[in-house]
Formats: sequence, C-alpha cells, structure tokens
Amino acid sequence: MLVLGLESTCDETAAAVVRDGKKILSNIVSSQIDLHLQYGGVVPELACRRHVDIMIPVIEEACRKAGVTIQDIDLFAVSKGPGLIGALLIGVNAAKTLAYALGKPFVGINHVEAHLYAAMMGKEIPMPALGVILSGGHTTLALVRAIGQYERIGHTVDDAIGEAFDKTAKILSLPYPGGPEIEKLAKKGDPHRYPFKGGNVKGHPFNFSFSGLKTAVLYAFQKEVFTEQVKADIAASFQRAAFEDVMGKVERAASHYECQHILFGGGVTNSRTLREWLQARLPYRELHFPSFELTLDNAAMIAGLGYHRYRLQGKSDPFDLEATAVLDL
Ligand code: KG4
Ligand code: ZN
Repeated sequence: MLVLGLESTCDETAAAVVRDGKKILSNIVSSQIDLHLQYGGVVPELACRRHVDIMIPVIEEACRKAGVTIQDIDLFAVSKGPGLIGALLIGVNAAKTLAYALGKPFVGINHVEAHLYAAMMGKEIPMPALGVILSGGHTTLALVRAIGQYERIGHTVDDAIGEAFDKTAKILSLPYPGGPEIEKLAKKGDPHRYPFKGGNVKGHPFNFSFSGLKTAVLYAFQKEVFTEQVKADIAASFQRAAFEDVMGKVERAASHYECQHILFGGGVTNSRTLREWLQARLPYRELHFPSFELTLDNAAMIAGLGYHRYRLQGKSDPFDLEATAVLDL
C-alpha cells in the first residue's frame, strides 16, 4: 500500500511517500526557519501563508522523488493536530481534497503519536515499551502496549521541554529554534556553574514542570555581567538540568512499569548530547531513537503511522474530520 503523508502542524511543510508503513520512498521537508528567524519564533499567520504556497510543490516533489504519480497513491494521511490551527487546516484540506478527487481513502493522524511511531518504523519492538516524547509542544511519558494503544503516565504541567530550550535561547539572544543553538553553546560552558533543576509535581512522579527552570535562567542571567562565558555556562547548566530531569523520570518510569525497551520521539531527541547521556545512564535498557531524518517534524512518520491507522481502524470521513489545535496521546 502506497501512502502519501502530509505534515503542516507548525513551520515545516512536508510530504512523503511510504510503502506499507515502513519503506520510505521519499521524505520532503520544506522548513520555514528563514521566514521566522527575524521574529525569534514562529508567526502563525506567516506560517499558514507559506504552507499554502508550498504545499502543492512539496507534494509534487515527494511523488517525483518516489517515482510515483498521485494516481498511484492508495491512501492519504495527514497530521490532524496538535498544532497551529491555521497551519493544520492547509494540510488537512489538501489531503481531503486529494482523497475526494481521486476517490481514495484518507486518515487523520495525531502528530504526537507519529513522533513515537518514528522510533518504531520498520522495527519489531517487544511491548509494552515506555514511550518518551520530547518536542516543542509536548513532554509526555506513555506506556505503549501496541501501535494505537497508549496509556499516558506523565506530561508537562506547564512548558514543554523544547519550549523551555527555545525560551532560554531567547533570553540568551540565540536564534530560533533554540535547541540546537543551546546544545552547541553548552559544549563551551560549565554545566555545574548554576545549580538549576527541573521541577517536580507533588503526587505525580512522572509529570514535568519546566517553567521554574526557565525563570531561574532568567534570574541568573539578570544578575550576571553578560559575557560569552556566562552565556555558555547558563546554556550548559540549563541543558544539564533539563536532561537530568528527563533522564531521572525516564529511568524511574522504566523500572516502575518494567519496560526493557524505551522509544524516543520529538525534536528534542535530535540532540546528540541527550542520546549519548541516555545511553550512558541506561546501558541496561534498549533505547530506540528515530533516524535523524525522522526526528524533527516530517511527513514520513505521518504516512507510516497512517498505514497502521487505516489497517486497524479504517478510513476517516473527509466531511467529518476536523483539524484540532490541542491534542495529546
Ligand atoms: O518535534 P519538533 O520538530 O516540533 C514539535 O512537534 O514541537 O520539535 C521542535 C523542538 C524545538 O523546540 C527545538 O528547539 C527542539 O525541538 N530541538 C532541540 C534540539 N533540536 C531541536 N532541543 C534540544 N536540543 C537539540 N539539539
Ligand atoms: Zn513535532
């Protein structure tokens, strides 16, 4: 089954052709970073307009690269949420229109679930596994019993981890998106100069809270004389605190739920630093990361999960399915 996946939740316009949920024939991602850079973050209205301009060329490129025509596609899969509502509407309406015009089925996909699927794509992973989603919008721990069967065991009560990286980067006058910039700068800094810590939520050992950490960064920054070394030390101390918090909760959740296999997904898992630290801290667990091309927002994970969603639950109704700004696992 050939699936065309579409993704437009935020500032990436993406299309991919995937065979049978695992073989990636093409994976085209058009990033809008250039457009939003000057504003220090994503401007929703500009993002929507760019999606409108670029969606059809991106779909054409995905088909061309895969060596297929749009008529060869058996199923259309699209991110239905969570994300910027205007941005989501572009992908959702493109997929609905194509499916309707060509008389093919289409499915709406939860973008957060797709980030997790990226780590499973083409692999047989023993279940239940622990799922860890670390992205710009989510920080979620879940017990994964099977594709489509999740039990959420932890989430952030305020900022998502990627958001905390982006806000810390802004405080330090680093460009958007902040995560990769902080990772780079942290290599030159002392991770123990500032005693930053991630937050705990009383009675919920697997929940996260990053707003206190972000405020601690702001206060540290305001107290210091701004030098390149101070900047690097704050970046390194922040990154250490955020990742230590995640690693501790992942370690305890894997023990508590007896999960030998851990799946990671979302843009923050693009950090090589995080991957190395996790491997060092959990050598006795089997860690599954998406390939780097599937870590950040992409449509191959949408097409891949779309195949399973259709197999398990059938198609979505094109007249019923709505884009949804807020959605978790
Ligand atoms: O999954 P994603 O592409 O979009 C969402 O679904 O949110 O994640 C984007 C987030 C941004 O907050 C970005 O700063 C963060 O992932 N990120 C990183 C790194 N690369 C991207 N955070 C920390 N370290 C990185 N190397
Ligand atoms: Zn994402």
